[in-house]
Amino acid sequence: MYRIIAISFMLLFVSFSNAQNMIATPSSVVPCTVCHGTQLMGNKSNEAPRLAELPAWYIERQINEFKAQGRGVHPDDHSGAEMLPSAMLLTPEALQEVFEFIAVVKPPQPEKTLHGDIERGKQLYMQCVACHGAAGEGVEILKAPPLAGQNDWYLLKQLQHFKSGVRGANSKDSSVQTMVFASKALSNETDMIDIISYISTLNNETGTN
Ligand code: HEC
Ligand code: HEC
Repeated sequence: MYRIIAISFMLLFVSFSNAQNMIATPSSVVPCTVCHGTQLMGNKSNEAPRLAELPAWYIERQINEFKAQGRGVHPDDHSGAEMLPSAMLLTPEALQEVFEFIAVVKPPQPEKTLHGDIERGKQLYMQCVACHGAAGEGVEILKAPPLAGQNDWYLLKQLQHFKSGVRGANSKDSSVQTMVFASKALSNETDMIDIISYISTLNNETGTN
């Protein structure tokens, strides 16, 4: 009896995960997955982040930032430059399809690649809470994106880019400057790795799409 129940649960789970895996990628989203990975789960070899949990308001803002050349134009911003042409070519209709796709895909959680001091990172994260939320869920009114659920290697690169002025230097957006300012408080890479290791422990269920 128990075995039958267990097997039916297993079958249910398999068909459920298959159904999720079988969501067809709309043709306008296919080029994005080439860099951002299957189901937009992020792809380290292309340095392209996970998009699957990002809210539409943040994605739209970033596309507009690339289009306005506030991001991706600094001479040392090699990964930003990879993204720039796609943002330039993106139509509002295609962007809408990206949002619709993101609303239904549920790719597996990202792999942890950084192993810092989580307890120390939790203390350091106090200085991020006001803008990014206690659960790393992001705060739309402050234009601060969710951090929970994002690839750790990407978060590290962005913190380095904000601190060194590679990201933000060309932006006319005042909320971007709040992040440039916040990054200056991080004294070194160890601080960044510890904070990100803590962020990786946060549940991203509260993130909105
Ligand atoms: C040629 C590779 C490539 C393609 C194609 C591409 N991207 Fe990107 N994208 C990147 C890289 C690399 C980054 C990281 C930029 C950085 O490091 O600042 C990025 C960053 C982004 C960001 C910013 C994410 C964040 O957290 O700030 C968004 C949004 C985005 N891409 C959306 C898209 C969409 C939508 C498409 C398809 C229309 C697309 N990308 C196609 C490489 C690509
Ligand atoms: C005053 C508000 C504020 C504080 C404090 C703040 N941030 Fe941010 N953060 C932002 C905003 C706004 C953005 C979006 C910038 C943009 O649009 O390019 C951002 C973006 C980021 C990004 C890039 C995410 C992505 O998907 O590309 C990372 C990583 C980040 N913050 C980490 C942190 C960490 C870690 C801390 C604490 C040390 C912190 N932030 C503190 C406002 C803040």
